[in-house]
Amino acid sequence: MSATGGTRSITPPEIRAAKGKTPIVCLTAYTTPIARLLDPHCDLVLVGDSVGMVLHGLPSTLGVTLDMMIMHGKAVRRGLEKALMVVDMPFGSYEEGPEQAFRNGARVMAETGCAAIKLEGGESMAETIRFLVARGVPVMAHVGLTPQAVNAFGGYQVQGRGADAERVLRDARAVAEAGAFSVVLEKVPEELAVRITKEIPIPTIGIGASSACDGQVLVVDDVLGMFTDFRPKFVKRYAELAEAADAAVSAYARDVRERRFPGPEHVFGSAPKPVKGGEAA
Ligand code: KIV
Repeated sequence: MSATGGTRSITPPEIRAAKGKTPIVCLTAYTTPIARLLDPHCDLVLVGDSVGMVLHGLPSTLGVTLDMMIMHGKAVRRGLEKALMVVDMPFGSYEEGPEQAFRNGARVMAETGCAAIKLEGGESMAETIRFLVARGVPVMAHVGLTPQAVNAFGGYQVQGRGADAERVLRDARAVAEAGAFSVVLEKVPEELAVRITKEIPIPTIGIGASSACDGQVLVVDDVLGMFTDFRPKFVKRYAELAEAADAAVSAYARDVRERRFPGPEHVFGSAPKPVKGGEAA
């Protein structure tokens, strides 16, 4: 999918219309440099509340605040031109009811410049989604494993196995009927992902939900191999940056200790000569 008209961003209706066409490419981002890196390649960039675990070292997403999401949303906005930016609503910022969700969702949109928000929940969130959509807030829904409900689920296990499939299917139908423009389907069996993707009219964006989905999303740090101790089954690593960073930092530490860094090329003389397009030598 590509935005038309120069640097115009992809819109929620364009994502909605991509159902059944070319798969929708989505990754998370939390900072400007990573957003710049993703923008040419992604249709949608999600400022996920996974930021709490990925960047802030929190044990779950539950401690993430609205202010954190707004700060990271603003940073990501500065790095995007083409991709649609969606910001996650953190735990406690929308569940009280439609009015709370609208108040906080509108603040997130106004302060970050995002074009849509994401919230977790299926049938129980349908009324809220309908209220938001009717008032100009495009909503990406999130069903299956919803990490903000980790305590209610008792962990991060696959959802929708066996008889539980009907519950997840009902959730997906409910958010589509309420007007969400797409839905994240997290950690559900392939068969169920196939069924939901066939049945609902909005794109399913899978994470641990098979290639049957209309698009895929992953946490960018997982894709880049930024963690040595976290290797979930549903992630494919496309780089090993943690290993590369460890080797780089260890080489730097050795060079400093052995006085090999800084070298003569990194040192300033007492009579600076301006160099073309760069720093004084
Ligand atoms: O918070 C997040 O990063 C997410 C995606 C991985 C779907 O919700």
